[in-house]
Amino acid sequence: MDEQDLIDAALAVRQKAYCKYSNYYVGSALLDEHGKMHVGCNVENASYPEGTCAESNAIAAMIAAGGTSIRTIVVVGGHDDIEDCTPCGGCRQKIAEFADDDTRIVLLRPGGHTREFSVDELLPRSFHL
Ligand code: THU
Repeated sequence: MDEQDLIDAALAVRQKAYCKYSNYYVGSALLDEHGKMHVGCNVENASYPEGTCAESNAIAAMIAAGGTSIRTIVVVGGHDDIEDCTPCGGCRQKIAEFADDDTRIVLLRPGGHTREFSVDELLPRSFHL
């Protein structure tokens, strides 16, 4: 399982996004501490704030499958073609909950290049209990 497998899976699940209100399609694929992949796409509904993000759904799938730690998470998003899609504030907090200093957050850019961040870069001085 390499980074390209995660990107391919994120792009594939993005096609399934249910986003008729925003028309913004997001897919996410993550690798957990067992080497298992989990995917999610955004799922909206008529009550706009009640929708769920792709990253959040991928994390929920990881937890349901018994994973607890994100090694790498890939996020891909955009209206039609891939745009610069970075995790929203809520998803940064959710990623931080299951991340450590070595967790890689990989974002796909228009043109196929990737950008990589640590959780501390995306959510410095994050809240932890
Ligand atoms: N979205 C995600 O799935 N992940 C993010 O990190 C940013 C936003 C979704 C939520 C909503 O369905 C659509 O993108 C537009 O905000």
